[in-house]
Amino acid sequence: MSGNKNNKGMMKAVRIHEYGNSDVLRYEDAEVPQVNGNDVLVRVEYAGVNPMDWKVREGYFKEAIPLKMPATLGIDFAGTVEKVGDKVKRFKPGDKVFSRADFTRGGSYAEYVAVDANQPAHVPKSLSVKEAATVPVAYGTAYNGLFTTAGLKSGQKVLITGASGGVGIAAVQLAKSAGAYVAGTTSAANVPMVKSLGADQVIDYTSTDFSKQVSGMDVVFDTVGGDTLDRAYAVLKKGGVIVSTAGQPNASLEAKYGVVARPLKNVTDGKLLEDLARLFDNGKLKVVLEKEFTMSDIKAAHDLSQSRKARGKIVVRVE
Ligand SMILES: NC(=O)c1ccc[n+]([C@@H]2O[C@H](COP(=O)([O-])OP(=O)(O)OC[C@H]3O[C@@H](n4cnc5c(N)ncnc54)[C@H](OP(=O)(O)O)[C@@H]3O)[C@@H](O)[C@H]2O)c1
Repeated sequence: MSGNKNNKGMMKAVRIHEYGNSDVLRYEDAEVPQVNGNDVLVRVEYAGVNPMDWKVREGYFKEAIPLKMPATLGIDFAGTVEKVGDKVKRFKPGDKVFSRADFTRGGSYAEYVAVDANQPAHVPKSLSVKEAATVPVAYGTAYNGLFTTAGLKSGQKVLITGASGGVGIAAVQLAKSAGAYVAGTTSAANVPMVKSLGADQVIDYTSTDFSKQVSGMDVVFDTVGGDTLDRAYAVLKKGGVIVSTAGQPNASLEAKYGVVARPLKNVTDGKLLEDLARLFDNGKLKVVLEKEFTMSDIKAAHDLSQSRKARGKIVVRVE
């Protein structure tokens, strides 16, 4: 390991010592993670910010996924392989990779992250390291929601709510590239951007009730939850499938509309990232960046994500 970044096994990281609002985020020294035989240690260049990050910080998942404090936050990242475990064949020091981190082991808002070698993939040629750092959660979730869970096929019709968010932007492009008819919801200012990604129909949810504008959908992929998710059941054809990243299946609405609500199956490993990398390199997908921050600005990055107004991905430069 090189440079003064990693003096005596220490590094800079953004950690929390307790759950709470964005004031609990601390940019401080932490230990460089241990590397086991199947691991890859990556020198992180950029970390992506996702709503999951502030939800973890707030303690939304503290029962299901308890964190050992102090905990380094962050899931998405991209950077350069620093070191590999003795069983690792797929990667070598110097490779540029992107990946999800296991934040229960040590998150991505850090100079170094160790992950199992089945998690990363090589950064696609068509993306910068910064762009690649924003891909795993959003594009992996969209892929898993549309195809693995809902089974979307060419020629089918899909409604994507929250089409200007990180997951929505990925979903619009993935659904379009799979040959689906794509309807999406966003606010007026973001309608042109969502259309430019290939959506066939874009509805301004602030002025129009989307459930009166679309019908006969094969699939709904909801990224908003709450009342939006509840109203979305009505746009499906009989037997249509609804999947949400932000809410649970509702059995009474399923029965009322004769549709199928499936819980999201969301596993993003290096194999899926390789498939996504090919779609980027074939020109089927692109990244939309909202804003770049530094690690010392992490509070502002979380506040922007938590505003639910981000148009595309938020990224943090790790120095
Ligand atoms: N379960 C999982 O594994 C998983 C994985 C990934 C994400 N998620 C969840 O999925 C949700 C979306 O994630 P994300 O990264 O896409 O979030 P995001 O990037 O923060 O989404 C922001 C976007 O949401 C739009 N939006 C807000 N309210 C809306 C509404 N009522 N109707 C339509 N659009 C609306 C905003 O558009 P306007 O500014 O135009 O309003 C904004 O562009 C989050 O709750 C996240 O936690 C879950």
